[in-house]
Amino acid sequence: MPRTIVITGASDGIGAAAARQLHAAGETVVIVGRDPQKTGAVAAELGAASFVVDYGDLSQVRDLAAALLAAYPRIDVLANNAGGVFADRTVTRDGFELTFQVNHLGGFLLTNLLLDRLIESRAAVIQTSSAAAHRFSRFDIDDLQGERSYSASTAYGNGKLANILFTKELHHRFHDAGLSAVAFHPGAVATAFAAEAKGAWRFLYHNALAKRMLISTDKGGSRLTWLAEGTPGETWISGEYYADNRPARTARVASDPAVAERLWEESTRMVGL
Ligand SMILES: NC(=O)c1ccc[n+]([C@@H]2O[C@H](COP(=O)([O-])OP(=O)(O)OC[C@H]3O[C@@H](n4cnc5c(N)ncnc54)[C@H](OP(=O)(O)O)[C@@H]3O)[C@@H](O)[C@H]2O)c1
Repeated sequence: MPRTIVITGASDGIGAAAARQLHAAGETVVIVGRDPQKTGAVAAELGAASFVVDYGDLSQVRDLAAALLAAYPRIDVLANNAGGVFADRTVTRDGFELTFQVNHLGGFLLTNLLLDRLIESRAAVIQTSSAAAHRFSRFDIDDLQGERSYSASTAYGNGKLANILFTKELHHRFHDAGLSAVAFHPGAVATAFAAEAKGAWRFLYHNALAKRMLISTDKGGSRLTWLAEGTPGETWISGEYYADNRPARTARVASDPAVAERLWEESTRMVGL
């Protein structure tokens, strides 16, 4: 029986590659993207349902959750994959720093609004995090909006660290109820990533050599596919962070349960749950 696999950020890059692989494996994939044309094109190619959302506007995340709940009596996998690195500090209409909102708050809100359905379905929630959580984060639970200190790299590293802390806390709160949670680094993947950034980030991903230095979108997508197709407790461990299909090390603060709990509480307050 095909499972229902909802993938955000599936209009391009790693998410689209994973959607193609999971569709080929016989799963029912649900394509969620930001750009209506790109999202529609991937969905049409796969004969899949699609939804459009911009995580820069949390009201759109609430609408997406309502539409998914109306459409799917089961959700077996939720892949919170939408994300990216941006340029100068920008504040969204919701009042939050854009990188934090797109990489963390959007997926946090969506997951919480779908939580009962996910638990009933004994679902897996997968976060596309990054090695940037280790390399670039300077996580300050009292400065989640980068008001005291901001750089695009730090904001991105902090957002990706938040993905891992969210995974740990989801596991802690809901694994006994049947939910599993995992975060992963897909590798340095040749995608449209960093197209909205400036300087080194943009250059690294968008220069003549990039395609040769970076791994393919199919390879990056295969790491998401491996988790979506896997069995928690057998092929992967709930609450863990993976790279290259193996448990991996990340920033030490990611293992601090007090920080994970505080991030959950702060995020809950921010999104008005
Ligand atoms: N590429 C890498 O080397 C790398 C490494 C580590 C982690 N990651 C992570 O992998 C994930 C996928 O990135 P990618 O490399 O596949 O990049 P990508 O090709 O740029 O894909 C990003 C996806 O996220 C969506 N997205 C971006 N901003 C959004 C917003 N405001 N609201 C809703 N959706 C939004 C995009 O939608 P549209 O295209 O429709 O605008 C697209 O589907 C991201 O979380 C990224 O941080 C990537």
